[in-house]
Amino acid sequence: MQFIRFSDLCAQGKAKGQRVFIRADLNVPQDDAGNITEDTRIRASIPAIQMALDAGAAVMVTSHLGRPTEGEFKPEDSLTPVAARMGQLMNRSIRVVANWVDGDFSVAPGEVVLLENCRLNVGEKKNKPELAAKLGKLCDIFVHDAFGTAHRAEGTTYGIAETAPIACAGPLLAAEMDAIGKALANPKRPLVAIVAGSKVSTKLTILQALAKNVDGLIVGGGIANTFMLAAGLKIGKSLAEPDLLGEATAVIEAMKARGAEVPIPEDVVCAKAFAADAEATVKAATDVADDDLILDIGPKTAAKLAEKLKQAGTIVWNGPVGVFEFAAFENGTKVIAQAIAESSAFSIAGGGDTLAAIAKYGIEKDVGYISTGGGAFLEVLEGKTLPAFEVLARRAA
Ligand code: 3PG
Ligand code: MG
Repeated sequence: MQFIRFSDLCAQGKAKGQRVFIRADLNVPQDDAGNITEDTRIRASIPAIQMALDAGAAVMVTSHLGRPTEGEFKPEDSLTPVAARMGQLMNRSIRVVANWVDGDFSVAPGEVVLLENCRLNVGEKKNKPELAAKLGKLCDIFVHDAFGTAHRAEGTTYGIAETAPIACAGPLLAAEMDAIGKALANPKRPLVAIVAGSKVSTKLTILQALAKNVDGLIVGGGIANTFMLAAGLKIGKSLAEPDLLGEATAVIEAMKARGAEVPIPEDVVCAKAFAADAEATVKAATDVADDDLILDIGPKTAAKLAEKLKQAGTIVWNGPVGVFEFAAFENGTKVIAQAIAESSAFSIAGGGDTLAAIAKYGIEKDVGYISTGGGAFLEVLEGKTLPAFEVLARRAA
């Protein structure tokens, strides 16, 4: 996909003295007191900001935080804690500018300001043209660097990309797209995807899209239970969606027709209750009792899948394969995580639970690329063109 890269503009000296407006995704989790509990997205946004500063630009950065009501400022919606954390990380003080839409503020070359939560502006969510027109006037160059919000067509993620004099991709957005392209568009084979989670329904379009492309589709969690049912196995009281058996069967058949496979677990870890202290019993997949809950894949299955992952050329990972938050049911996810870490395959991972598993097993450095996108990452796996890339491609033409 064609788009202008901010790094190229900077290298060509085109950002010097310019007003650069960066849309980042600084939507980080906070505790009840407003403390930031996880700052990956802030860290990931700094290279674009530093790039703009180094290029001699006057830098404005904005993001949404949560889902506030437009036009109604509440202290908990403020980006102030984000500015503080970013300031610490960049070793400079970062001013927060409120009520900025009409441009009643100044920012000098070499300075960076954080423009208050963009979802407080009336018209942001629905990308109203009046707002987009004002946003475009604030800058000379618009930099879209918010991969986590690249699936939304809002004022600061889409409207401004149409109205700004120049619209380009920041280094994070570009890196995400490059990594995803490497994994899905022209992958080193075999390409193995792991799609796990509680429901087939929420990931059906992803499973269908991947079934056309991947060599192996490893399913886990409640999704695997539905596939086990489709394969004629009993799953007791386990979470599953019997209504979607037809769709699961169609995915298995589509894969088979291409000489690819959906490995069905041969052993599982069961319990009689969903609890951290529930007794865990390893069983053959054919021996699941009527009152059993399947909470993880079994050790034989995990070892076989690990072998496949070690032989893969490319791995796409979304979702833990068991209830890894409970020690008795974490083995499957842990073995998969370690296999990905040890594999020479190019690996890409995304999604909240997946990132939590990566952090738990300390394999951050051994995964080829960790996406900052939640919903955006999933939409890319579905094969959708995200609004961010559609509009940036149009502006590059
Ligand atoms: C996310 O956290 O997934 C992104 O920041 C997008 O947020 P949204 O779902 O509120 O648009
Ligand atoms: Mg919040």
